[in-house]
Amino acid sequence: MERITTPITELLGVPSPIILAPMAFGATAEMSTIVYQAGGFGMIPAGFDSSAQLKEYLTTARKSLSIAEGAAIPVGVGFIGWILDKTEASPDPRLPTVLAQRPAAIWLAFGASLGRYVAQIREFDAQRTDGHRTLIFTIVNDVEGALRAAGEWGVDVLVAQGIEAGGHGGSEALPLLSLVPAIRAAFPPGTCPPIVAAGGVSTGAQIGALLVLGASGVALGTRFLYTHESCYTKEMKEVLVAATWGATTRGLMFDEVNGTMGWPPKHNGRAIANKIVQDWEAGLGLGARLERFEESKGRGEKDRLVIWAGVGVGMTDEIRALKDVFEELHSDAVKALRVSSSLLA
Ligand SMILES: Cc1cc2nc3c(=O)[nH]c(=O)nc-3n(C[C@H](O)[C@H](O)[C@H](O)COP(=O)(O)O)c2cc1C
Ligand SMILES: *[C@@H]1O[C@H](CO)[C@@H](O)[C@H](O)[C@H]1NC(C)=O
Repeated sequence: MERITTPITELLGVPSPIILAPMAFGATAEMSTIVYQAGGFGMIPAGFDSSAQLKEYLTTARKSLSIAEGAAIPVGVGFIGWILDKTEASPDPRLPTVLAQRPAAIWLAFGASLGRYVAQIREFDAQRTDGHRTLIFTIVNDVEGALRAAGEWGVDVLVAQGIEAGGHGGSEALPLLSLVPAIRAAFPPGTCPPIVAAGGVSTGAQIGALLVLGASGVALGTRFLYTHESCYTKEMKEVLVAATWGATTRGLMFDEVNGTMGWPPKHNGRAIANKIVQDWEAGLGLGARLERFEESKGRGEKDRLVIWAGVGVGMTDEIRALKDVFEELHSDAVKALRVSSSLLA
C-alpha cells in the first residue's frame, strides 16, 4: 500500500490516515483488528459493555495481532461519556480495566465530565513502569469545544465531527467543510493538535479533500456499516443499501424509543428517517410510540428499526468485505491527492 504520511499516521504508527470510528451497536472489536491489518486504525466501541467484555475484546485483539503480553495493542477503545459517568461510579468501573490492557488510544465523546477522564488516563499512565502513553482522542463539534479539549484537558487528537455524522453528535455542529478550517483558525499557528475529520465521509476523494483542507486523518463510521463484518443485522443492512441521499435525519426520537437517553445538551443522533420519525411528527406520546415500536419489532418490520447512519448513505449501495472497502478508500484517497498536486503542474 502506498503510504500517506500525516501527524496522525506518525502518532499511530500506521500507513493510512483512515480510522474506523467507534460504533456502539454497529462495529465489533474484530473490525478494529481488520482495519489495523489493512493499514489503518480502529476504535472498539465500549458502548454499554462491561469491563469483563472489554477486557475480552482486548485480549482477543492482542492474540489476533500477535502482540506480546506487556506491549501496547494498536487499537483504541471509544467510550461514551454519560455511560462512563454511570459505570465509573458503579462496582464495575471500566476505564482502569481497559487501561491495564494498554490500548494505544482512548476515544472520549458525549459527556459532561470528559475532562475528568482525560486526567484519570494521564494519572494512570504516570503510574506505569513501562512508559506506555495512551493517545487521547475527543470528539468536538465547535471551536469552543476544541479550545477546551486542547487547552484545558490537553487531549492529543481533536475529532472534528460535522453535522453530517451518523450516530450521535452535536445537534448544532457546523458542516465538516467549515468545521475543520474554523477549528484550525482558532489556534495560533503550530499549536492546534492533529485534527481527525468525521461526518458523512464515504469516498476516497472526500478523504483526499479533507487532508488537503488541513485534517491529519479521517474517521469513518457509516461507510464501514456496509460490510459483512458490521454487526448491523441483515435487515438493517438492506435498509442502508436501499437508502438514498436525504434518507437520514437528526433527533432524539430514536433514542426515546431505543431506551438510550442520557446525551448532554445540544446533542442528538442521526439515523435513517423512518416511521419512528413519522410517529413523533404525528405528535404521539412516548407511550404510544413505544407501543408501535415494539409491535413493529414483533412483526419483524424494517421501517421502525433504529438505524444510526450519516448522510453518506446515498453514496453506497453494496455490502462488501471490510478489508476490500478499506483498501479501496485508501487507494482512492491516494489518487485524489495525486490529482490535487497535478493541478499545479
Ligand atoms: C452506528 C453508529 C454508532 C456510533 N457509536 C458511537 C460511539 O459509540 N461512540 C462515539 O464516540 N461515536 C459513535 N458514533 C459516531 C462516530 O464516532 C462518527 O463520528 C461518525 O460515525 C462519523 O460519521 P459517519 O457515520 O457519517 O462516517 C457512531 C456512529 C454510528 C453510525
Ligand atoms: C437500540 O438500537 C440498537 C441499534 O439499532 C439495537 O441494536 C438495540 O437492540 C436497540 N435497543 C432496543 C431496546 O430496541
